[in-house]
Amino acid sequence: MKVLIVGSGGREHAIAHSVSKSGQVEEIYCAPGNAGIGLLAQCVPIGVMEFDRIEAFAREKAIDLIIVGGEDPLVGGLVDQLEAAGLRAFGPRKDAAILEGSKAFTKDLMKKYHIPTAAYETFDRAEDALAYLESASFPIVLKADGLALGKGVLICQSLEQAREGVKAIMEDKQFGSAGNRLVIEEFLTGREVSVLSFVDGKTIKTMTSAQDHKRAGDGDTGPNTGGMGTFSPSPFYTPQIDRFCQEHIYQPTVDAMAAEGRPFKGIIFFGLMLTEKGPRVLEYNARFGDPETQVVLPRMKNDIIEVMEACIDERLDNINLEFEDNAAVCVVLASRGYPVRYEKGFLIEGLERFEGRDDCFCFHAGTKRTPEGIVTAGGRVLGITARGENLHRARENAYEAAQWVTFENKYMRHDIGKAIDEAQ
Ligand code: AMP
Ligand code: GLY
Repeated sequence: MKVLIVGSGGREHAIAHSVSKSGQVEEIYCAPGNAGIGLLAQCVPIGVMEFDRIEAFAREKAIDLIIVGGEDPLVGGLVDQLEAAGLRAFGPRKDAAILEGSKAFTKDLMKKYHIPTAAYETFDRAEDALAYLESASFPIVLKADGLALGKGVLICQSLEQAREGVKAIMEDKQFGSAGNRLVIEEFLTGREVSVLSFVDGKTIKTMTSAQDHKRAGDGDTGPNTGGMGTFSPSPFYTPQIDRFCQEHIYQPTVDAMAAEGRPFKGIIFFGLMLTEKGPRVLEYNARFGDPETQVVLPRMKNDIIEVMEACIDERLDNINLEFEDNAAVCVVLASRGYPVRYEKGFLIEGLERFEGRDDCFCFHAGTKRTPEGIVTAGGRVLGITARGENLHRARENAYEAAQWVTFENKYMRHDIGKAIDEAQ
């Protein structure tokens, strides 16, 4: 079987790693990929939004399965185009990817189907949003409706901050057309947990839980990033919470999408807040999380291709998802200054220490192969994942392995997984 993965980040490297372990796969391609993915797959220089070129390549190589990693091509309709061309693709169609593509859509969906989430209002005009804020209580959360690279959420402590936020999103269009509509949402407090799931349109099977660390600095300080590290499982995600979510959130979401005539096939990522009043949905993503995938997939026992094919063929109910009874931690190695301003092009040394290992992995996020060697090519450079018999061991292993690699301006958080100390 020939597989094409669309994307170029740490998530796609982790997906490629799982795909490479499948007994059914002979050839793996990745568009466009990165230096690490290039060790497992043939990388082809085609961008994720070049739909016609992706389709042409898949036809030419007679690709059996195309796995779409990121939200931009999913929300843009890549799966629809590939299916129309008679190709098999894993991921939601455009009308289902709206679950991530429009926050106003998902908030209305949750309200209609009684799925627990923060109270909210949606606005098309800045003056209406500003009028609403006059009588609101703070902190309050502003969310640009559309895709904004994970940056379209502003937590505002005061009326003044919120006014500036409305201006930035709706008038200055800081996030482009994503800010044509605005969701203003109640501020929730609690622990965050990410639960990823496979969905075949009607059946949902959830994967083991994970927790991300979104802020750039230790102690959750500094600007929001794409994610500086993760651990899995979350000790705060108890069997009781899981039961509640299965009953009130996961299956209801899948049923709601089907009832709306938008059956969802692919990955639903539930971003949850465990509040005092119970779990609430903060957001949905229509894809694997990054860097959640880097701690979830290495612990999955199933053949990923079998599970993905079951999703496409609507027979996920026959699959028993199984995860190892251990833990994993991923520490992101970034370029100092990320996510604001950082340099690229520094030589990375020590990568060979990960070769052939199965207890720890070096997933590439922003790297490039040059004649001199592999160099940094992005803000997030590598994700060092290690397994361990429990979270503490996994964390020790990940931080040890994080020392093996060096490059100029290497930066990481030192407290990934610190929350687990509070769990015992
Ligand atoms: P999102 O892109 O929706 O995941 O939001 C990014 C981050 O903003 C989340 O991971 C939370 O940390 C925070 N956030 C989003 N919505 C809320 C909310 N209603 N209350 C508190 N924090 C929130
Ligand atoms: N780690 C959060 C995300 O993938 O959106």
